[in-house]
Formats: sequence, structure tokens, C-alpha cells
Amino acid sequence: MKICRTIPEFRAAIAEFRKADETVGLVTTMGALHEGHLALMRQAKANHDRVVATIFVNPTQFGEVADLAHYPSDDDRDIGLLDAEGIDAVFLPEVDTIYPDGDETIVETTELANKLHGKVRPGHFRGVATVVTKLFNIAQADAAYFGEKDYQQLQVIKRLVRDLHIPVQIVGVATVREPDGLAMSSRNLRLTPQDRAAAVVLSQSLTEAEALVAQGTTVEELRDAIRTKIKSEPRAILRAVDIAAPGSLSPVSGPVKDPIAIMLSAEFGGILLIDQREISP
Ligand code: PAF
Repeated sequence: MKICRTIPEFRAAIAEFRKADETVGLVTTMGALHEGHLALMRQAKANHDRVVATIFVNPTQFGEVADLAHYPSDDDRDIGLLDAEGIDAVFLPEVDTIYPDGDETIVETTELANKLHGKVRPGHFRGVATVVTKLFNIAQADAAYFGEKDYQQLQVIKRLVRDLHIPVQIVGVATVREPDGLAMSSRNLRLTPQDRAAAVVLSQSLTEAEALVAQGTTVEELRDAIRTKIKSEPRAILRAVDIAAPGSLSPVSGPVKDPIAIMLSAEFGGILLIDQREISP
């Protein structure tokens, strides 16, 4: 596996693959790799001759400096995991490589970024949109793989690629879960054992929501049922229960007759966790 720290190094590695007419899949990460990331790598490997990854803890998507400071980071461990997965090249840039001195260009999906979870974390999706656009331009891969767990992020990325005519296919990959149902996330490592046990309430409430939709329900009843379930867990501080139309994330109401997307966020001991499910009646 080629380890690249500069843009020319990473581009040269990809150019080599291109010379051999090989297709390239890209997986962007912020490190602290877990099974969820490895699922993206494996899906990319199944579809492409070569897979390249990036590890970059993007400062512009963190609202609070404290959140950024606590983000787990262990490059040696991550490089070992990528190597074991058979990844062909990894890019680990410094912050000033991605954001050079005087950097002033931002990318923002003005509607999608500022609703739902975007309201809870102002500026977050602008930071994500800006960094993935930069990484797409640097790698120029055929396709890029993102987890469905970060549902709104996935919609933001699909939209910016469409709007800016970036020639990369965006592939969403199903959420990988712990045996008890908790969606995998690097943040799970920061939970106390008690909060880790409590956090399962998020996926449980989505499973209950699925059953309610199958029986026939309204969006309003569904939202109440999910709220009640999460609030029944004393360690959870509920932040949001968003129910919207898949893709556009437009508001929905009344009887659930069409597919819906449910996006949840709650804090456990100060750690914000999210989960999501698309449900069809
Ligand atoms: O999902 C993530 O890990 C990050 O938001 C991403 C897409 C790598 C951008 O920094």
C-alpha cells in the first residue's frame, strides 16, 4: 500500500492505476477506523480494480474545538487495518495541504445543509461538503463510498456532486451494527460502559418504528412513539427525531403512505450519536 502525504504523491499513485486502465474507488475517512469503514472498503474492492482511502480529521466540520480535540486518532493502527484490507493507496494530508494559506472557498448545499441535523450542528455540512469536494478533485476516482448511517451527509454529497457536475459516482453502503444493534461509530469508543449499554435505545426505537409503519401509522404518532422510547432511557438526552422524505429531506406529515427517512440524534454522557433508517410502508 502506498502511503501518500502530499497531493502530488497521491495523484501519482492514482495515475499509475489509470495508466493500466484500472478503475478506482475512493473511501474518505477521518481515521479511527472501525467495521463500518471496512465495509465501505470491501464494497469498493468488490466494484473496482483499485481502492484508495483518505484519512483526514477535517477541522471545518467540527463546531466545537473540544469535539475536534477529542476525536480519536491512531494513524499507525489505521494504516495497518487498510493494508490488511488490501487498500492500494492511502492519503494522510496535513491541514494546510487541504486548506492552504489564504483558503477562502467553501461549498455549501444551501437547503440540505441547514435543515434537520444541520440545525443542531451549524456549519457542519458546509465543512463536509467543502472537504469532500476537495478530496474528489484530488483523487478523481470513478466512485466514492459513504455510509448510510450519516444519512443527511450522504444526501448532501449526492446533491453537491450533481449540482457541481463532479464526475464521481456516489455509492451509499448500509450501516454496520454491533451485535446489539448499535450503529458503529468512532464515537462509540468514547462512551462509558453504562452509556454504551444505554445507546442501544436508538436502534431499538428504529426497529419499533418499522413495526408501527407496517401496522399503519401517521408521521406524528411515529415521532411521539420514538420520542417516548428514547426518553424512557434515563441516560439519553434526546436531540432530534427527524422524519422526512428520502433524498430531498422535505417535511412529511399525516399517514405514512410513502417511504420515509427517520434520523435520530441523542447524547449519551455528552457524546452525540446518530442513527437512521429508511422505512417503506
Ligand atoms: O463521514 C466522515 O467520516 C466525514 O464526514 C468525511 C466524509 C470523511 C468528511 O470529512
